[in-house]
Amino acid sequence: MCFLFLCGILLLGVVNAQFPYLNNKTQEFAVNGSAIPNVTFDIGESYAGYLPNTVTGYPSSNLYFWFFPSSNPNASDEITVWLNGGPGCSSLAGLMLENGPFLWEPGTYAPVRNPFSWTNLTNVVYIDQPSGTGFSLGPSTAISEFDIARQFTYFWKLFARTFDLQNRKVYLTGESYAGQYIPYIAAQMLDMKNTTYFNVAGVQLNDPYINDLTVLQDAPALSAINHHPSLFPFNSAFKSHLTTLAQTCNYTTLLTTALTYPPPLTPFPPVSHSPNCTTLYTQILSAISAQNPCFNPSHITDTCPPPWNPIGGPILSVGPGPTNYFNRSDVQAAINASPTDFSLCKGNIFRTPDGLDPSPPSSLGPLARVIEGTNNTLIAHGTLDFGLLVNGTLVSIQNMTWNGKKGFQREPVEGLWVPFREGGGSGGGVLGTAHTERGLTWSEVWGSGLEIPRYSPGAAYRQLEFLLGRIDSLSDQVEKFSTE
Ligand SMILES: *[C@@H]1O[C@H](CO)[C@@H](O)[C@H](O)[C@H]1NC(C)=O
Ligand SMILES: *[C@@H]1O[C@H](CO)[C@@H](O)[C@H](O)[C@H]1NC(C)=O
Ligand SMILES: *[C@@H]1O[C@H](CO)[C@@H](O)[C@H](O)[C@H]1NC(C)=O
Ligand SMILES: *[C@@H]1O[C@H](CO)[C@@H](O)[C@H](O)[C@H]1NC(C)=O
Ligand SMILES: *[C@@H]1O[C@H](CO)[C@@H](O)[C@H](O)[C@H]1NC(C)=O
Ligand SMILES: *[C@@H]1O[C@H](CO)[C@@H](O)[C@H](O)[C@H]1NC(C)=O
Ligand SMILES: *[C@@H]1O[C@H](CO)[C@@H](O)[C@H](O)[C@H]1NC(C)=O
Ligand SMILES: *[C@@H]1O[C@H](CO)[C@@H](O)[C@H](O)[C@H]1NC(C)=O
Ligand SMILES: *[C@@H]1O[C@H](CO)[C@@H](O)[C@H](O)[C@H]1NC(C)=O
Ligand SMILES: *[C@@H]1O[C@H](CO)[C@@H](O)[C@H](O)[C@H]1NC(C)=O
Ligand SMILES: *[C@@H]1O[C@H](CO)[C@@H](O)[C@H](O)[C@H]1NC(C)=O
Ligand SMILES: *[C@@H]1O[C@H](CO)[C@@H](O)[C@H](O)[C@H]1NC(C)=O
Repeated sequence: MCFLFLCGILLLGVVNAQFPYLNNKTQEFAVNGSAIPNVTFDIGESYAGYLPNTVTGYPSSNLYFWFFPSSNPNASDEITVWLNGGPGCSSLAGLMLENGPFLWEPGTYAPVRNPFSWTNLTNVVYIDQPSGTGFSLGPSTAISEFDIARQFTYFWKLFARTFDLQNRKVYLTGESYAGQYIPYIAAQMLDMKNTTYFNVAGVQLNDPYINDLTVLQDAPALSAINHHPSLFPFNSAFKSHLTTLAQTCNYTTLLTTALTYPPPLTPFPPVSHSPNCTTLYTQILSAISAQNPCFNPSHITDTCPPPWNPIGGPILSVGPGPTNYFNRSDVQAAINASPTDFSLCKGNIFRTPDGLDPSPPSSLGPLARVIEGTNNTLIAHGTLDFGLLVNGTLVSIQNMTWNGKKGFQREPVEGLWVPFREGGGSGGGVLGTAHTERGLTWSEVWGSGLEIPRYSPGAAYRQLEFLLGRIDSLSDQVEKFSTE
């Protein structure tokens, strides 16, 4: 799309102050920020469209992106990627429900400006990957995380060339299954040793998938229900059944062993993958869903009725607005997306016999190397997430060796300080924990479910400021606060 007025300016070779990234390479991607359906305000400069991710030996395919340059002068040497997980979920979920410049939240009538937009801080690009996800039409060709990383880096070089983003610090951020994608992509970038395109400066994984589900769900499930007794009000017979099962399956000893600071250097007790043991989590899910039919594993305080979701999702409920906004042809035309039968999440995104990812979970794979290669890795976790559990992530961290030592040496208890800001519906104060050792930061957010920028936007904004190096510590103000 070419804006007539701006094309005239381009011919004169003048950089437009309002659209600094607009030139004859980028104009085909330009999005008219005043023409996003249902959005009643100008979302500013942005670019969207497709670039190839075609790796030799695979059919040609491409990835969809939507890029928001920031007007923050501090961002001039940065570029930040946001990826949603799934596998197979569109990153536009993050844009529209979490950290983009406009939000259309479930249960609300219209999009609103997001005062905690990450684009306030840095240049952010949302990418639908791997191919086959969201607006990236496919075919899906990845058979492992190594393919995902190679396809992504191929795309990334073209993206950086198109928008003249060479020699930028690259920050990779995302949530859930992006906890698997990002460490593999970051490791591949670091291995390429080319800072012109792949200068990975930091990595942020929110509520990440970094280990197998037995460790992330079954093993810590009992500790989670004990942590939230009023949200899982089970009778004593069921609780003692769960307690016995957790003991028999070695989940209890795994937690007490791993959540010791520092952890023992000897291997942690092996957890049982026997059929009984791997149903512990689903037994809790069925029991809690009987008590609370609208139980939402991503945010455990939800009750009925579920709000209608403008962009779709696992819980479908009809409301006075769209339930699949990005499936509308006017929306697709406005953001340079090909006509697509759009689903927020698609299954079988890996071209493997079972459609699943055969690569080792990232904490048993490249994550430690990525921590060492950046010394700036942030793992954040919402305490109200019962899809991926806080203590499963912590156990996985305690089982990792990076920068010469295994796990955290000290218990991660320091407060996460979030400043109070006017408006925008996000509180301040001590909203969780934040702890850094040897290049890895762990930050728990107490009031948040899986989607931290949605449930605790001020905390997520603060964590991003830390990742970008704009603030030195997530806890600093706590000490000042408490000594005043
Ligand atoms: C952008 O969209 C608005 C609203 O449809 C329209 O008034 C305006 O002319 C468009 N701008 C350009 C440069 O095309
Ligand atoms: C794009 O602009 C550059 C200079 O800014 C010029 O050298 C080049 O020829 C232009 N390309 C096209 C296709 O107009
Ligand atoms: C959104 O836009 C569509 C198409 O223009 C319109 O039918 C609908 O009423 C709008 N919804 C809201 C909530 O403004
Ligand atoms: C983001 O920028 C807008 C516009 O400048 C501003 O109103 C808002 O307060 C900023 N948000 C934060 C969290 O600083
Ligand atoms: C990165 O690779 C490009 C070629 O793709 C090369 O021109 C450039 O010099 C390399 N940069 C570094 C820092 O190695
Ligand atoms: C995690 O484990 C610790 C130590 O056993 C426990 O105190 C805490 O309540 C657990 N937290 C959650 C959210 O499960
Ligand atoms: C529990 O761990 C012990 C070693 O600590 C091991 O001997 C036993 O087989 C494990 N139990 C199960 C069910 O895996
Ligand atoms: C699994 O369940 C069966 C039948 O209830 C029981 O006999 C067996 O001991 C259980 N195994 C474990 C590891 O809990
Ligand atoms: C998307 O819209 C098309 C019609 O434009 C419809 O056939 C299709 O079922 C819709 N897909 C989803 C997932 O809603
Ligand atoms: C990361 O920090 C360790 C010390 O913990 C240091 O040895 C290493 O050189 C650092 N790596 C980078 C890439 O800065
Ligand atoms: C701990 O790491 C070892 C490999 O170093 C792995 O075999 C084991 O499954 C891991 N345990 C957990 C609970 O992640
Ligand atoms: C730029 O970063 C510095 C700290 O590094 C901060 O003091 C300043 O407020 C930032 N500017 C903007 C516009 O965010």
